[in-house]
Amino acid sequence: MFTEVAPELFVLSEPLSFYGFQIGRNMVVVRLPNDDLFVNSPAKLTQERVEALNDLGSVRYVTPSSKLHGHAHMEEYKRVFPDAELFAAPGLDRRRTDLVFDGLLGSAPDSRWAGVVDQAPFLGHWWLTEIEFFHRPSKTLIVGDICYNLGPETPLKTRLGMRLLGMYGDITVPRDIRYTMKNETAGRQSVDRILEWEFERVIVGHGRIAERDAKRRFRDAFDWLH
Ligand SMILES: [Fe+2]
Repeated sequence: MFTEVAPELFVLSEPLSFYGFQIGRNMVVVRLPNDDLFVNSPAKLTQERVEALNDLGSVRYVTPSSKLHGHAHMEEYKRVFPDAELFAAPGLDRRRTDLVFDGLLGSAPDSRWAGVVDQAPFLGHWWLTEIEFFHRPSKTLIVGDICYNLGPETPLKTRLGMRLLGMYGDITVPRDIRYTMKNETAGRQSVDRILEWEFERVIVGHGRIAERDAKRRFRDAFDWLH
């Protein structure tokens, strides 16, 4: 169910249809040195998933990537895992007033995961501030919606649609994000800060995990930001 992508790093990939396109979604779990689990973009819980998570460790920190990505099932985690704390991405606390958050995600990691997971915001977009994470031991960058990586594994309609949107075959930034930047300088600075991390793998919110030459591909995906 959870694939161990690297030591202490697990991914649950599941189908997701978005306007008829099969883009899938990835939930990421980092096991911290004390066996506490840091969860990003939590998937809907099932009995099997609860058991799998309990086998991995103790679910403690549940994080979305943004006010749009990865928050849909957070409340289930609070209900099922007694030690879970929910964190809000920028703007999510206003969007999900039904939830009680234990903390806000910002430009610096919480001390309880900072030893293993770093974080930085992607700034400069009109309405979306996304928090990107870096799992230092496995050299893995974890993003939400700022780039996708969809390829030949998707059905024909998705491949055609993604080609039209300029989002096919590699790590790419959706056009709607590119064309709705408010402050490109802030976006560039955010990407430059992310590129300071020595990552060799990128886990996107939607699409394939990029393993080969991932840092160059991520850098190239943002070459339009000056
Ligand atoms: Fe998303």
